[in-house]
Amino acid sequence: ARPFIDYRDGQLMVEGVSAAELARAHGTPLFVYSQAVMLDALAAYQRGFAGRQALICYAMKANSTLAVLRTFVQAGCGLDIVSGGELERALRAGVEPAKVIFSGVGKTRAEMRLALEAGIGCFNVESLPELDVLSEVAADMGLRAPVSLRVNPDVDAKTHPYISTGLKGNKFGIAHTDALAAYRHAAALPGLKVTGIDCHIGSQITETSPYLDAMDRVLDLVDAIEAGGITLEHIDFGGGLGINYHGETPPAADALWQLLLAKLDARGYGQRKLVIEPGRSLIGNAGICLTEAVFLKPGEQKNFLIVDAAMNDLPRPAMYEAYHAIVPVQPREANGEIQSWDVVGPVCESGDWLGRDRQLAVQAGDLLAVCSAGAYCMSMSSNYNSRGRAAEVLVDGDQARLVRARESVEDQLRLESI
Ligand code: LLP
Repeated sequence: ARPFIDYRDGQLMVEGVSAAELARAHGTPLFVYSQAVMLDALAAYQRGFAGRQALICYAMKANSTLAVLRTFVQAGCGLDIVSGGELERALRAGVEPAKVIFSGVGKTRAEMRLALEAGIGCFNVESLPELDVLSEVAADMGLRAPVSLRVNPDVDAKTHPYISTGLKGNKFGIAHTDALAAYRHAAALPGLKVTGIDCHIGSQITETSPYLDAMDRVLDLVDAIEAGGITLEHIDFGGGLGINYHGETPPAADALWQLLLAKLDARGYGQRKLVIEPGRSLIGNAGICLTEAVFLKPGEQKNFLIVDAAMNDLPRPAMYEAYHAIVPVQPREANGEIQSWDVVGPVCESGDWLGRDRQLAVQAGDLLAVCSAGAYCMSMSSNYNSRGRAAEVLVDGDQARLVRARESVEDQLRLESI
């Protein structure tokens, strides 16, 4: 099958729609998502879980645009939320509340109350004080909050330190060695109902071994917890599977789960309900960001290509020195002069770069596509330099829908007064 985002007749196409035409119609910077790529990525997980009791809770922090959520919800997904704002978006996207899980280290009482009122499926609790407060809030409402404890399996996900979460030295989860005591504590609290166990070891994981190690560690805990008389209805194995940004070769979701399910089967947990929380691997490679070359600024040491997208739209290079491929929307003829460019935005920071030393044949006014921009771009965007957030388009076949309008200056000023 041909890829859904690719060139046809010298034009970058998103499914059946020309990227250049979208840029003309909606302006730049413009995020464009392919629904087919999203559903394809989801299908790999669904194949992996065929015949099992499994719930795929899309980690909406990766991209929380309503139309993106709706696409996954309609395809059967639940959602992993981390704030009251995400809860509201999730509900507006039409998710069944029972398919919502609430992660995060700092849930407030107000957020807990909202989630209890909505009737979400599970709270993934990350500390003892959170257990106590959640129990209190739920008991006050005459409820028992369904909880799963996020345990820290202490395995190295071998990813960027900022997005590695499963090692001892970070703020997430309950240490492996404290987990048993925490479960006993939780089981004794009046406002809680212990339903599961949960872990998440990091993001952009491209190797299989950290997952296999984490599964062993988590199942050791399940053995111990259940030996102590607490039954776990579900095992939540988090998210984290990486994507190909620049030649990385992460395992396919179905291949990874074949190995993990073999482990679960071997240890007698094959029929247990499974939950996962993938974000990036469902949406990352479904999106591109279209941007226009504003000025060429060749120099003695470096050539700068200044484009109209910036770190406020695409913060990952500035934050993690992340690599996003940058390609022309309408490649120039073979005789176009290829030069090395640092692709930078107009924001007043040296950290405002999108790509370094990129070989491109480009002129001012050309359109470029920043690739793999579906995850952690729009959802991490900001108004820095009073730049409005970009618009977003969702493509399905030869249909393109504007699903978020470009943010105007008026939109930005609406909440302020002098
Ligand atoms: N579950 C929990 C509890 C998480 O903290 C995360 C991501 C996920 C699931 C989804 O992980 P994924 O499948 O997307 O890897 N902004 C960074 C990534 C931060 C990830 C935070 N947690 C980036 O742009 O690379």
